[in-house]
Amino acid sequence: MAAVAATTAAAKEARQKHAQEMAENGDEVPQGYVWKDKIRYGPIELSPPLAEELPIIDLSRLFSASSAIDAAEELANLRSALRIWGCFQVINHGIDISLLENMRQLSREFFHLPMDEKLKYARGADGIDGYGTDPKLHVNQPLDWTDRLYLTIKPDDLRNLQYWPENPISFRDVLNKYTDLVVKIHDELLKAMARSLNLPENRFLKQYGENSSVIARFNYYPTCTRPDLVLGLKPHSDGSALTFLLQDNEVKGLQLLKDDKNWFDVPIIPNALVVNAGDQLEIMSNGEFKSIVHKVTTNSEKERNTLGIFFSPDAAMEIGPVEELVDATRPKLFKTITNYAPTYFHYFQLGQRPLDMLRL
Ligand code: OGA
Ligand code: NI
Repeated sequence: MAAVAATTAAAKEARQKHAQEMAENGDEVPQGYVWKDKIRYGPIELSPPLAEELPIIDLSRLFSASSAIDAAEELANLRSALRIWGCFQVINHGIDISLLENMRQLSREFFHLPMDEKLKYARGADGIDGYGTDPKLHVNQPLDWTDRLYLTIKPDDLRNLQYWPENPISFRDVLNKYTDLVVKIHDELLKAMARSLNLPENRFLKQYGENSSVIARFNYYPTCTRPDLVLGLKPHSDGSALTFLLQDNEVKGLQLLKDDKNWFDVPIIPNALVVNAGDQLEIMSNGEFKSIVHKVTTNSEKERNTLGIFFSPDAAMEIGPVEELVDATRPKLFKTITNYAPTYFHYFQLGQRPLDMLRL
């Protein structure tokens, strides 16, 4: 018993403390979490204005079977949202509010289980799936004040059920239901995005290939006594092609960097989904759609829970600007790449912009 206890104690010693534990203990913020001066994006502002003009896309209009005018108008809105912001919120998406509520509730319940229970799903040493802190991959990397549960949804054969919580009991079932619906919306939206650029509707989906990737990331942002020093998530653009975020229904925190100049708070629209373009969509669209830089702030009063679903092409596919969008007046802006993820994570953890490495 003593030996077991000692090993457990040693294991506890060795593991990085979770942000949640530090928040609950009232620990001082360790230096490794202080991000200022380490990242060179945008101005440092503590209370940016609300992005009141962040576009809202009404999917019942975009996919209207009865009004071609509505559909055309909403398609134009979609195109301009992706060009100007690289981000928008979707409403009338057809997912039941009770399912969204259920998913949020299960996520909260998971993060509030005792640590030993959560550690049953702890991220392995070599993979990315599982429960854990912001992984420390580089000595100079400022750490994010967040804990997360990262789960591969697709391709099916890369699902690692060992990391899928069985507690709370309906977690897996609800996650499956939610992701099935988000996948359908994603596919229809991606087709609409291609149409908005006068491309055949399967143009981007084809680039995704057969084994495209879908990843779920549950983000838990505990409170922090020094929100002025620490970020829930450092500035980044997503490495995906598209990301769907189920925001917390009450607590703000997500901010967008518009035109590389000003930060804006993303408003909370209850039960809307926040959709943003990631780097691989900016590449495929030859810069027509913008992969938005964003960050997450912390606050001292309320924790925040979000769920991101990340859609990316098959790592084996060649991803580059589609040829219809390259001509004499629109030179090719990006190199063609395969397997973007390792490049992405390398520069992301250093606080640099991975996409910059691919610009021609
Ligand atoms: C992300 C992300 C935003 C949020 O997970 O990449 O940007 O508000 N999340 O959690
Ligand atoms: Ni992001």
